[in-house]
Amino acid sequence: MLGMTFAGLRVPLRWCPRPWAVTSMFCMAEPRWGKASVSSTWRLLSGTSIEPPLTRERYGVSRLPFSRVTAQDLHAFQQLVPGRVVTDEEQLRSHNTDWLRTVRGHSEVLLKPESTAEVSQLLRYCNERNLAVTPQGGNTGMVGGSVPVFDEILISTALMDQVISFDNVSGALVCQAGCILESLNQYVEGQGYIMPLDLGAKGSCHIGGNLATNAGGLRLLRYGSLRGTVLGLEAVLADGTILNCLSSLRKDNTGYDLKQLLIGSEGTLGLITAVSILCPRRPCAVNVALLGCKSFTRVLEVFAMCRDLLGEILSAYEFLDTECMRMVQTHLKLSNPLTDSAFYVLIETSGSCASHDEEKLNTFLERALDSGLVTAGTLATDQGKIKALWALRERITEALSHDGYVYKYDLSLPVNKLYDLVAETRVRVGTSARSVVGYGHLGDGNLHLNVTADSHSDTLLAVLEPFVYDWTARHCGSISAEHGLGFKKRDHIHYSKSSAAVQLMQRLKHMLDPKGIMNPYKTIPSID
Ligand code: FAD
Ligand code: LAC
Ligand code: ZN
Repeated sequence: MLGMTFAGLRVPLRWCPRPWAVTSMFCMAEPRWGKASVSSTWRLLSGTSIEPPLTRERYGVSRLPFSRVTAQDLHAFQQLVPGRVVTDEEQLRSHNTDWLRTVRGHSEVLLKPESTAEVSQLLRYCNERNLAVTPQGGNTGMVGGSVPVFDEILISTALMDQVISFDNVSGALVCQAGCILESLNQYVEGQGYIMPLDLGAKGSCHIGGNLATNAGGLRLLRYGSLRGTVLGLEAVLADGTILNCLSSLRKDNTGYDLKQLLIGSEGTLGLITAVSILCPRRPCAVNVALLGCKSFTRVLEVFAMCRDLLGEILSAYEFLDTECMRMVQTHLKLSNPLTDSAFYVLIETSGSCASHDEEKLNTFLERALDSGLVTAGTLATDQGKIKALWALRERITEALSHDGYVYKYDLSLPVNKLYDLVAETRVRVGTSARSVVGYGHLGDGNLHLNVTADSHSDTLLAVLEPFVYDWTARHCGSISAEHGLGFKKRDHIHYSKSSAAVQLMQRLKHMLDPKGIMNPYKTIPSID
C-alpha cells in the first residue's frame, strides 16, 4: 500500500488530501487546560459564578416534615467526626449549588467522615433524629441530585479517598468511595491497568458518585456499564446498617445481587462507602481519529464500517455536530483541525499490538475516504495530540455552560432516529433559544441534546417539555441514558418505566429508608 509515516502510524497518502490538514495536525496546540485536578476541573468547568435562585423558589417545592438541625445536633456531630463539621456559609456555598448552577439548596452543615464506621454512626444519628441527608461526591452530577433542596445535611465522601487493595493479576481494585476517578486511573495505570470508565468530570467526580449515578461515559462501548464491571460494594443504609457486599469475585450467585440496587440509586437508598471494581489491562496501542461527515446518515454509515473493519479494537465512537464544535472554539478557544463539517466523529482504537491496529486502521481510513462517507480527517497517536482531539469532545459540556442557561437532555434512542430529535427541537424552539446542539456516545445510542438560552425561562421550558420526553417515549427511548433522574427528572420517570415498576421502586425505598431521610425529593416520586 502506498503510504507515509504519519506520527508513527502508516496512513494512506490520500488520507491528508490537502496540505493544511497535515500542518494543522502537526501544529495542533498542546492541551490548554493542563493536567486535570480537582480544583482545576472545578474552576475551568464551571461556566459562571452567578448563583441560581433557591430550588424551592424556582420549582415551588414544599419541605417535608424533617427535623431541623439544632445546636445539640451540631455538638453530637462534633463528637462523631471531630473537626470535620463544616458550618461556615462561605465554605458551604459550592456544596449547596450544583455544577451547572441551576439548583441551589441551603444546607447549614456538611459532614466529612473518613471511615465507614463514621458514616454508620452519622446516619444512625440522623435517622433517629429524623434529619434528612444528601450524600455528595464530587458534585458534578447533571440532574440536581447532589445538592440539598432545602436544608438537608450534606455528607461528603471527600475524605474517604484511600485505595484499600489492588490485585495485580485479576485487576480488581478495592477503594473507598471518595477516591477521585482520575486519581484512581493514575494509580492503576502505574500497575499496567486502566479504570473501566472515563468521563469529562474525571478530575472531580468520586468513584462512589459514579456508582451512585451508574455513570456511563467514554469507555462504555468497550468495557460495558458499571453494572458489569463493579464486583462489589459497601454501603451504609439509612438506619446505619453497614451492608458489606465488597466481594472481588467475578462470579457469585448466592441470592439477590444487592449491589445492583445501590448502583444508580443516586443516594436514595444508602451511602456507598467502598467499591470493588474490575480494571482492564492498559492498552499499549491507542489511536484517535477525528473525522468530518456531511450528514448524520453518513455518521451512522461510518459507525457500521468501523464495527466491520475495526472490530474488537474500536474503543469509542463519539459524535458532535457543527454547533458543538463552534461552542468549544468560541468559549474555550480550542482549534478545529479540520475544515468545517456538519458532523464530526471521534473514533478511538485501543489494542495490544500496534502493527495489527495500524493495519486495521489504515484499511478503515482508506475505505472511509474512498467511499466519500468522510470528507476530512486527522489522526493522533501520541499522547498530547490524542488529548487535544479528545478535548474537542470531552469539553463540550463545559463550553455549553459558558453559553448561557443550559436545558440538558440525556437520552437513549435507536441510533437511526437519534439526530431527528435535535433537528425537530431546533425547528420547534426557533429563535427563543441561543443554540440547540447534539452530541454524545453514538456507539451506545446515547444523545446529549442541549439547548442554551440567555436565562432560565418557564416559557422555553414549556416548549421543550414534555415534547422531548414524549418524543423519546414514542421512539422507545429512555429519558435518562446515564445521568440519572435526580431532582430535575424525577417526576418524568413514567416516560420510561411502567407504573408497576415505579411502585415496586417506591416499596423498596420505603423498606430500606422508612423515614425517607436519604436524599429526599430525588429520583423516585414519593408515594403520596
Ligand atoms: P455527585 O455529583 O456528588 O452526586 C451525584 C449523585 O450521586 C447525587 O444524587 C448524590 O447524592 C449521589 N452520591 C454521590 N456520592 C454518593 C455515595 N458515595 N453514595 C450514595 N450516593 C452518592 N456522566 C456520565 O454518565 N457520563 C459522562 O460522560 C459524563 N460526563 C460529564 C462531564 C462533565 C464535564 C460533568 C460536569 C459531568 C459529567 N457526567 C457524566 C455527570 C456524572 O453523573 C458525574 O460526573 C459523576 O458520575 C457524578 O459523580 P460525583 O462524584 O460528582 O457525584
Ligand atoms: C458527556 C456528559 C455530559 O458525555 O455526559 O460529555
Ligand atoms: Zn455523556
